Parts: sequence; C-alpha cells; structure tokens
Amino acid sequence: MAGEWNRFVEGDNLDVLTGLPEESFDLVYIDPPYNTGNDFAYSDDFRGSRGAGVVGRHAAWLDFMRPRIVEGRRVLDPGGAIFVSIDDHEVAHLRLLLDEVYGEVNFLAQIVVNLNAKGRQLGRGFATSHEYLLVYAKDLQHCVLDASSSTTVIESDFPLVSADGRRHRRLPLRNTNKKFNPLTAPTLHFAVWGDPETGRVATAPFDGAVEIKPVFGDGSPAVWRWSRPRIDERPDDLECRTVRGPGGERVDVYQRDWRHPVGGRRKKLRTIWLAEEIGSTDTAVAELKQIVGHLFESPKPTGLVRRILDTMPDDCRVLDYFAGSGTTGHAVALANAADGGTRTCLSVNSAEPTRVGSNAERAGYATVSAITRARLEAVAREIGNGLS
Ligand SMILES: C[S@@+](CC[C@H](N)C(=O)[O-])C[C@H]1O[C@@H](n2cnc3c(N)ncnc32)[C@H](O)[C@@H]1O
Repeated sequence: MAGEWNRFVEGDNLDVLTGLPEESFDLVYIDPPYNTGNDFAYSDDFRGSRGAGVVGRHAAWLDFMRPRIVEGRRVLDPGGAIFVSIDDHEVAHLRLLLDEVYGEVNFLAQIVVNLNAKGRQLGRGFATSHEYLLVYAKDLQHCVLDASSSTTVIESDFPLVSADGRRHRRLPLRNTNKKFNPLTAPTLHFAVWGDPETGRVATAPFDGAVEIKPVFGDGSPAVWRWSRPRIDERPDDLECRTVRGPGGERVDVYQRDWRHPVGGRRKKLRTIWLAEEIGSTDTAVAELKQIVGHLFESPKPTGLVRRILDTMPDDCRVLDYFAGSGTTGHAVALANAADGGTRTCLSVNSAEPTRVGSNAERAGYATVSAITRARLEAVAREIGNGLS
C-alpha cells in the first residue's frame, strides 16, 4: 500500500543496513543492547567473545557496534541526525565511537533521560534513575534538527486569562540580565509612564500616569527589553502594575506574553528529560501490555520517541535498526495520527530466539522479531496506515 507509515524487516541489522541505499533516512533512533549481562527477552551479554574480563567485554561490544554505527551514518541524509539510547555500562565507549565515526564537531547533546523516577532500588550503591541519549548530526552545517518542542509548552506556563479569554503570562519588561545595563545598552534606558489603576503604558506622560524607570532588584539602574517605538506600537501587550517587593510597594511594567496555539510556539528542549514528561519504563511496559502483552522487560516509552520525532520535520524518514518491541514504529504512527504528518519508519530486528523462560517465550513468541512484527501489526490495525 502506498504511503504506509511502517515497514518491518527481519534480519541481522548489519546485513539489512548494507543493502539500504545511501542517504535514504532523515532520522536514526537506536536502542542497542546495553551490555548489562542481564537476562532480557534478547541477549545482552558480550562476555567471553573477546577474551576474559572487563576490557574484553567492552571490546567485544565495540566490535559489534562499530560497523553498525558506520553503516547507520551512511544511510543518513546530510540533513539528518542520530539519537542513540545507552546507559552507564557503555556510554563512555559509545560516545568515543560516535566521535570517531560522526566527528566530534557533529556532537549535539548527551541527554539525561529519567526513565525510572524512583531510581533502581535493587543492588548496592545509588538508586540510578536515568540513562542517556547521545545525539549527533551527520553534518552540523546541513542538519535540519530543531532542538525545541511544541509539546513542552504547557498550559500552566500561561496561568493568566485576559478579559477576552486569551491565556498569557507576565514577563518583566525590564531586562533582568545584568549584562544589559545603561552602560552596555544606553538606548534602552529611558523613562516610561504607566497607570497601575488602568494598566496603561506609554512613552509620554498622560493623566494619572507615574514615571517609571527600569531598575534591578537592588535599585541599581537597568534597561528595558523593548525600544521606545516598540512600546508605542504594542500598548495592548504591556501592563502597568503595583507590585510588592522586598523594599515595599513599587510600580513596574510587564509584557503580556500570549500563549499561541499549539505548533505556533516552541520551547527549547533542555538536556534533562523527565519521566513525567516522556513516560517511564513502567509506562512503556503498560503501553506494550495494552497493545500486545507483557512481552519485553525494558521497552522505551512512545513519549520518548515522540519527543525525538518532534525535533525533525513531520515527513521525516525514520530508521530503527534495533527495533525490539517496535516502540519507534508505534510512536511514528501516533505522531502522524496526532498532527497529520507523513513520517515513515523502517524497523529492523533479528530473528534472535527469545530467552527460554521469558514472558515472550512463554506467550509463544519464539523470536524477538515475532514480537516486533506483532506490535507493528497491532499498531496498523489500531492507529492506521498499514505495515509491509
Ligand atoms: C534494547 S532492545 C530495543 C528495545 C526497543 N527500543 C523497544 O522499545 O522495545 C535491543 C534489540 O536489538 C535487537 N538486536 C540485537 N542485535 C541485533 C542485530 N545484530 N540485528 C538486529 N537486531 C538486533 C535485540 O533482539 C533487541 O530486540
């Protein structure tokens, strides 16, 4: 079917990647085995294959990852970017590997992803509550990634409602950054007139108005953020108020910062992503359970992948070559359904046998790829636009 959102290929990702055309994807998201030594539905232990001990174990993991990172870069468009999930076991090695393959200049971020709000209570030491996302551009000069999101603009950021029903917040018109002062920005240091009863603000005196000069909290001279002409052009976006500060009451000027409709305003993404914003491993297990069953111990929440998708255009060609339970394909379908986008996603997972005794094996899924396919089929049925 033309215009399908999801495609799935079963196989070793290195074989699949080498068969893909150059520059055919805009976004790669991968969540490779973390080399924890734990028992999941899939294997996550690189001990023994490259000599004994810790060094051999890291070396074996890097031997496995290096060609897959190189091939992943080859299939990325020059405007594209890669996001890689990882935890403390291999983050140091992965960062150096990505520096080597993508180039340190193309490093965009090492994001802390809080997927376990309470923190791990098992074992000794700290209650680890985060992992990482390493983000690299293929070529920083051409990268189309926009490190901001419309979904992080929340209603409660705009607590006030104007008489005509528009949500807004008040921002001081005064520049609160001490780098900007009458010495560094002399043209922005001037008196305005305001009436705290009516809220009116102007650059010239009027009946009932008091003179207001910009000052810092300690009373030293400050500057405004807006020029005189701008203040005169936008009187409805300004408000004069009496406020109570440490030094008693004073009259000050505020900008009414309006909340624009969703999509109209974007907020810069911080490098710490909280479980309450993107979901957690627990909510991810619940999402998976709801759509196909409790078949995977550590899926990613779709909210994490949706935030990643939100940094790229809505017709983005996405590739996940460690697809696991198919979270990325699910997130792509949810994002398209929500905003009318035309993103497509290719998911790849090997036919690795599920671990004997795992939930997946007991539920009759002999391979991990059978889980990926089952979820993507369910996504196509419930959200739409097919699977091939
Ligand atoms: C950490 S899991 C991915 C979980 C996924 N992000 C999710 O939300 O469910 C890693 C996946 O990589 C798969 N995998 C490991 N080696 C692979 C290979 N060489 N080719 C393809 N898939 C592989 C494993 O079967 C496993 O499903």
